[in-house]
Amino acid sequence: MKFFIDTANLAQIQEAHDLGVLDGVTTNPSLMAKEGIKGEEAILKHYEAICEIVDGDVSAEVLSTDFKSIIEEGKKLAAIHPNIVVKVPMIKDGVKAIKWFTENGIRTNCTLVFSAGQAILAAKAGAAYVSPFIGRIDDSNWDGVELIAQISQIYSIQGFKTEILAASIRSALHIVKCAEVGADVCTCPLDSILGLLKHPLTDIGLAKFLEDAKKM
Ligand code: E4P
Repeated sequence: MKFFIDTANLAQIQEAHDLGVLDGVTTNPSLMAKEGIKGEEAILKHYEAICEIVDGDVSAEVLSTDFKSIIEEGKKLAAIHPNIVVKVPMIKDGVKAIKWFTENGIRTNCTLVFSAGQAILAAKAGAAYVSPFIGRIDDSNWDGVELIAQISQIYSIQGFKTEILAASIRSALHIVKCAEVGADVCTCPLDSILGLLKHPLTDIGLAKFLEDAKKM
């Protein structure tokens, strides 16, 4: 399973990269706004800066919602760097655009996916990644991990090549559960990735080893 970091914060991207386990980055308009990135030029420059840190796929989301504008915007984003994956929302014009991008050699990440039906459509259109938002599903009292398992089973039976990118991850446990049910990628906040490190018995064991080492 690949690890992506879900942020537009360059320091956090660098920290995850330095850990040596980072395979890519996802961003969205909310994450870019949080970093104070405003205007087309600043947006393109920020994606360039991310691509300089990470040698892996970087999802850059379109802000347009009609077919023609999605294509124009997606072409500009894809031209930034070969690792850019154009992130397109799961709407009618978005599905049409994903198909167009696929036929024209531009990879896509279909975002805002909340059902197996939407995941089937994304795969049919040729998306490189499909992004089910599992944390937001949990928030509405459904089981986000169950959706990952369902999509994984469908893709495997049907032979779809689209990679399942579990998004809206809220904890280290989410990452473990997504790994169990066949997610190809987890995109996570830095805290959730670092949360995988933690176990109280590791801390207790290390403290004891260091204490005993003084007697050596
Ligand atoms: C995925 O690509 C999205 O950017 C992200 O995972 C959404 O997460 P949130 O529900 O925490 O905003």
